[in-house]
Amino acid sequence: MTGSIDDQLSSLSSSQQSVTWRSPSNIAIVKYWGKHGVQLPRNPSVSFTLDAAHTDTTVSFVEKVSKDDEISIDFYFEGAPNEAFANKIAKFLEGLHSEFSFLRDYEFKIESSNSFPHSSGIASSASAMSALALCLCSIEKILTGWPTDSTDFLNKASHIARLGSGSAARSVYPDVAIWGAHEAIDDSTDLQAIPFDNQLHEAFKGYHDDILIVSADEKSVSSRAGHALMEGNPYAPVRYEQANRNMIATLEALKTGDILKFGKILEEEAMTLHALMMCSDPSYILMKAGTLAVIEKVRAFREETYLPLYFTLDAGPNVHLLYPDEVADQIWPFIERELVPHCVGGKVIRDRIGAGPRLLD
Ligand code: DP6
Repeated sequence: MTGSIDDQLSSLSSSQQSVTWRSPSNIAIVKYWGKHGVQLPRNPSVSFTLDAAHTDTTVSFVEKVSKDDEISIDFYFEGAPNEAFANKIAKFLEGLHSEFSFLRDYEFKIESSNSFPHSSGIASSASAMSALALCLCSIEKILTGWPTDSTDFLNKASHIARLGSGSAARSVYPDVAIWGAHEAIDDSTDLQAIPFDNQLHEAFKGYHDDILIVSADEKSVSSRAGHALMEGNPYAPVRYEQANRNMIATLEALKTGDILKFGKILEEEAMTLHALMMCSDPSYILMKAGTLAVIEKVRAFREETYLPLYFTLDAGPNVHLLYPDEVADQIWPFIERELVPHCVGGKVIRDRIGAGPRLLD
């Protein structure tokens, strides 16, 4: 389906017994790192919604013949049954009973696949949990008629996605999404993300994010453990203040088209995230030699050419390279020649800022 989310939702019919959403991954500019309570962030974050890196999820549902108190799901990942994921999702759905009263009345079959290879080292939780949340909200709409409009629908989808994985809350909106309460940002809340709504400057339209797969190995420390380590980190309070300041500066840069200010914060956030890991107790390092080699080359290239190529990192070794579309022809040859050799099997995911999730026929 194309068109607005309202148009897409109006195509849902009460006789439907399955629903499919394609939902993208996102890359944080100001990072969410540290959480408390039930998936509540210690600081606000803002991200670009991506496009090429996405998850397709289909949820089919049939009413149970005899009612019981169990959540019943079959889970298929990339076409094959996957019990480990099934157990994880069953546990997640158990916690959603107060959100969706129908969960124990149906048998669910969930089929999920990613556009990016499973072994690429790309975290799929944002796209996977947002796709699942969108499917669940659609089933609620099919069965009850609510939510009637896209604002309520996306609010709830973002809220449910957050409960699955914090960063997933931001994937339901196009272009730019903000998650976490900030006193200077209207409507911002820890409970779900909000859209940036047509405030993005032309300079960021079609912005590139080439994701360099420097290592596809499983991370030595999960994001969940990393968030937990922030609780004892002596630098945490200063970090949360910095994130709050960077939110305002980033949103200003996104509105005014200030690519240089944007790039400076982008790199500061990446380096801070990894510095926080290094000074955790226990300390750990997720960057690899290739990550540092790429960072050095990007900085040298910028000094030499004055072209606005900036990097960021997630909680892992892979490098995201962000740059405007209008200089892509000057930047891509450098990436291909100098940086791609640092990638495992020469693997790069060439992504862009994206239009948000889509209901598939
Ligand atoms: C570094 O959203 O993966 O990518 O809520 O435990 O699922 P959970 O964590 P997750 O953390 C993402 C951390 C980050 C920064 C970001 O995306 O904001």
